[in-house]
Amino acid sequence: MQFFRSNTGVEKVSFGQMIETETVMDKTFAEVEPFDLKGRFLEIDNQLTWTFDLHDLDVVYGLGQNIRGMNKRGYVYESFCTDDPNHTPDKKALYGAHNFLVVKGVDTWGMYIDFPGHVSYDVGFNHSDELTVNVKETHFDIYFFRGAITDIITTFRKMIGKSYVPPKWAFGYQQSRWSYEDHDSVMAIADRFDEEDIPCDAIYLDIDYMEDYKDFTISDIRFPNFNNFVQTLKERGFKLIPIIDAGVKIEPGYDVYEQGIEKDYFVNDHEGHPFVAAVWPGKVHFPDFLNAKARMWFGDFYHKMLDMGIEGFWNDMNEPAIFYSEKRLKEAIEFVKQQEGKNLDINTFFKLKDKILNLSNSVKDYKSMYHKLDGQIVNHYDVHNLFGYNMTRSAAEGFKRYNPNKRFFMLTRSSHIGMAKHSGIWTGDNHSWWEHLKLNIQMMPGLNMAGFLYSGADTGGFGGNVSPDLLVRWTQFSVFTPLLRNHSAMGTRRQEPWEVGAQAKIALRNAIRMRYALIPYLYSEFMKANLNATMLFSPIAFAYEDKHSQKVEDQLLFGDSLMLTPIYEQNATGRVVYLPEKMLYWDMSSFEKITDKPFKLFEQGHHYIDMPMDAFGAFLRPNKLMVVTNPQNRVSKIDSCHLTVIGYVENQATYELYDDDGISFDFMNDHISSTRITVTNVQGQYQISVDTNALDLKSLTFYLIDDSGECQVITQNLEQVELRRV
Ligand code: GLC
Repeated sequence: MQFFRSNTGVEKVSFGQMIETETVMDKTFAEVEPFDLKGRFLEIDNQLTWTFDLHDLDVVYGLGQNIRGMNKRGYVYESFCTDDPNHTPDKKALYGAHNFLVVKGVDTWGMYIDFPGHVSYDVGFNHSDELTVNVKETHFDIYFFRGAITDIITTFRKMIGKSYVPPKWAFGYQQSRWSYEDHDSVMAIADRFDEEDIPCDAIYLDIDYMEDYKDFTISDIRFPNFNNFVQTLKERGFKLIPIIDAGVKIEPGYDVYEQGIEKDYFVNDHEGHPFVAAVWPGKVHFPDFLNAKARMWFGDFYHKMLDMGIEGFWNDMNEPAIFYSEKRLKEAIEFVKQQEGKNLDINTFFKLKDKILNLSNSVKDYKSMYHKLDGQIVNHYDVHNLFGYNMTRSAAEGFKRYNPNKRFFMLTRSSHIGMAKHSGIWTGDNHSWWEHLKLNIQMMPGLNMAGFLYSGADTGGFGGNVSPDLLVRWTQFSVFTPLLRNHSAMGTRRQEPWEVGAQAKIALRNAIRMRYALIPYLYSEFMKANLNATMLFSPIAFAYEDKHSQKVEDQLLFGDSLMLTPIYEQNATGRVVYLPEKMLYWDMSSFEKITDKPFKLFEQGHHYIDMPMDAFGAFLRPNKLMVVTNPQNRVSKIDSCHLTVIGYVENQATYELYDDDGISFDFMNDHISSTRITVTNVQGQYQISVDTNALDLKSLTFYLIDDSGECQVITQNLEQVELRRV
């Protein structure tokens, strides 16, 4: 056991890592004398169990993408990337493995376990006053953090590297469905968005665009002239986002398969032959993404599609999902045959059922797969959670080789800590259930803690049939999530905004238009959270210490200025909210209504807020501002010359508006546009000052509300205010 400390004061205990991961980028750790360890640990059967005491008032935040509430206390969780589409409350793991948590209480502390295999957490489930962590191996690093919760998160996020930044168009609305399977169906979707005057920036291509589900192929029957098609849509302002799956179809003559075999780049079985699993294309091999050469080889295949004009992808089934393996299927069939003609007792019947039901994603299969890393053979089970990570890293590194200064769009399903520097994530195959809207709301802070800022759920739900009100309410929440994508599964009710009735269509159009109005604020807050390693979505307890705030599980702080109070219940026409201080409610049902001054002040405390189906809103914190603009149908059309500023200003409020070219990494060299707006309320008279280097900024219209609720509208031509162009 070795002890280390970084120059930010983080303590690390190393039991020696099995393989080199790139999860921790901080190289400032130096070996130090042994220090006192938190908690108690025990090594039994080559596993390590670590127990920490929990105080009654301790709240446990983190574990990234997982089920249940923001406070993880009271249940058991696992880090083991899992393709399980039924995210019911009895489950313990989803698609990501994010071993970072913070205990907030009398003694606030944080912990990150850098281990890519199976880790489980009992957060006060068996013993309400204990947090017990079990690591299924003894080779790993564990990090301990101390300080205020937001400082711990920032330190951790800086340690794992800057989060992924997508192109700016990715903040627009995105429409997906499994599947828009051919040229005509995609065109019909694009046309309909324009006809209905609903903003949209991207349309997804699910597995049916491929030829027999083979990665990096395009079906010429369904997409006869793909390059022209991509170009035509691009000229209209729509980006196409094709899916890439982890399994490579076994088919002689198919280049990815042939080359993978020739170069020995596939994951092997215990006999040293490529492991055979089955996914969409039937039998497949998995590229050995943990091997640097294989990663580079696979990453270069993305270039083929970039050459066709594609600017982004979604990587899927990369836990990796396995429908069945040859071996497991054979065993199951033999077992079934043996039962033929028998009068089955109940135990044998259940065994038979389980044999079939448990064919997919079997741990036995993961234990039968092997990676080849520079001569070292590593069992997949021990590094399972790094598989999807490295598939996405392969794409991200491929993009860098293709064009180092262009921001490509990348979304992926399976993830692990550290992967946030390469990609955004969506939260996988949820359902059209109200419970999953709530889960989406509650998951956002955990994702941000783990570094995933560009994220969101399948809005409306992937599985099942969406009801009009669920789609509206979900969209009204997703208006705030950086990824705003409506996606649904084959065989379910269509859920494009015009598919669920006329009334819902109007509410959806208004909500999506509001999203485009919010982009100056959303993009600024996203980029600041990125550059400063801070949270975009926080539980309100991160900013307010009063005892009510510590318990709130269904409201979120969004950036520096807003508090969200989404509706997540069927038939609700309003909800109770808790305001930790006096705040201003903005009814956001339609951007145009802003001229009616739809603002109302509410005192600190609990309130019932009316929000009929077509209405939603957010609360502005006192002495904070937010900046919005006139909505347009594409992000690229957004007006950055004439902006609107809203604020509840008791005395003084300042806002830093961030912008950049939206397509390159030049922002890293300070090529950014920054506007600092300060509003001072001097006895009902507002003094406004603006410092900006944004040469295109021409006017700002202010909606300023004072402590009595009085709203003044002031339009400033920037030449008339105290303006310093930096
Ligand atoms: C997986 C993905 C889903 C996709 C489907 C078909 O279930 O999570 O988003 O639509 O596969 O490719």
